[in-house]
Amino acid sequence: MSDSTTAPLPAAVRWQGGSLGHLVLLDQTRLPLEVTFLSVFDIETLFEAIRALRVRGAPAIGIAAAYGICLGLQPLFAPALGANRVQSDNGQPDSAVFFERLEQVRSYLAASRPTAVNLFWALDRMVARARQLSARSEPSAIFESLFAEACAIHREDVATCRAIGRHGAELLPDGASVLTHCNAGGLATAEYGTALSIFFTAQDQGKRLHVFVDETRPLLQGARLTAWELMQRGLDATLICDSMAGQVMREGRVQGVFTGADRIAANGDAANKIGTYSLAVLARAHRVPFYVAAPRSTFDFNLPDGSQIPIELRDAEEVAEIRGQRVAPVGMRVYNPAFDVTPAEWITGIITEYGVIQPVTADQ
Ligand code: MRU
Repeated sequence: MSDSTTAPLPAAVRWQGGSLGHLVLLDQTRLPLEVTFLSVFDIETLFEAIRALRVRGAPAIGIAAAYGICLGLQPLFAPALGANRVQSDNGQPDSAVFFERLEQVRSYLAASRPTAVNLFWALDRMVARARQLSARSEPSAIFESLFAEACAIHREDVATCRAIGRHGAELLPDGASVLTHCNAGGLATAEYGTALSIFFTAQDQGKRLHVFVDETRPLLQGARLTAWELMQRGLDATLICDSMAGQVMREGRVQGVFTGADRIAANGDAANKIGTYSLAVLARAHRVPFYVAAPRSTFDFNLPDGSQIPIELRDAEEVAEIRGQRVAPVGMRVYNPAFDVTPAEWITGIITEYGVIQPVTADQ
């Protein structure tokens, strides 16, 4: 049994330097053909990176946004980083100016994508930390504390994913064959992923495992990202088109489905990448357990059920084209919801860093 046998993959999100440093994102739109990094010095570039899915996956979006708060506040403290510096006589930005800018940055980044609640969770945690310190600290000290908070959000996600992996791996017998959708791996988090952390942990424990990977139309996060990640870590995996999942289950090739989530309502209804709901229905029809893996930061207890989860609608080109190549007739109407909601009753269990919620009900 080994702790971890493979070299670490490049981080999806990295911060370079101290509080006046910058973000480095692994550009996931270029994977798997190119491993390229994007240096991000301002919130406008970060906004575009989140919207274009250069950085994606609920926890990774939250981590990037937390650092984004620091990027957005930097011009108040470093003259070279921005022209609009408003300081009082002691060289500090005025507290009102600081909090006004903080609110602007929060609102701006919050508009980048609507469904993954980790984005709002991280932004709100940053703002709450600043408010907590407002009575006793100068803006520059609050800024340093916010940088520490972003680093903590990043660091905590590593441990959270490992804990999800440990709890989930208990559900996997040696020799299991499972199916996953989209990418809920290291590329979507700080390190090991949520659903994929379960597979990596089982692998670390010496269990043999086979993973079917849904290609995940329209943007192919399964074919491009999960397939790449599993291959990099030496996991035995097979790629299928989304429409093949039913046949694969019918042939008895899958003993469990494991996906991530972008937002889980108080009753356990879970939003995840479009196609997840169909998989849950198929899994029920074939008596295959269907598990969702997600951290506490993906739960939205303000929403009683999944009907109120905002579903992101994305551009028609993502469906009418494949990797920039037109496949549908020009002028064809397209509907492109990026997520769907799986009702709690179709979910066998939700694997969190605290353990497995099973059955999935509002009481858990
Ligand atoms: O549109 P994406 O690629 O950001 O969608 C990602 C997913 O649906 C993931 O399954 C989810 O965010 C969980 S990531 C641990």
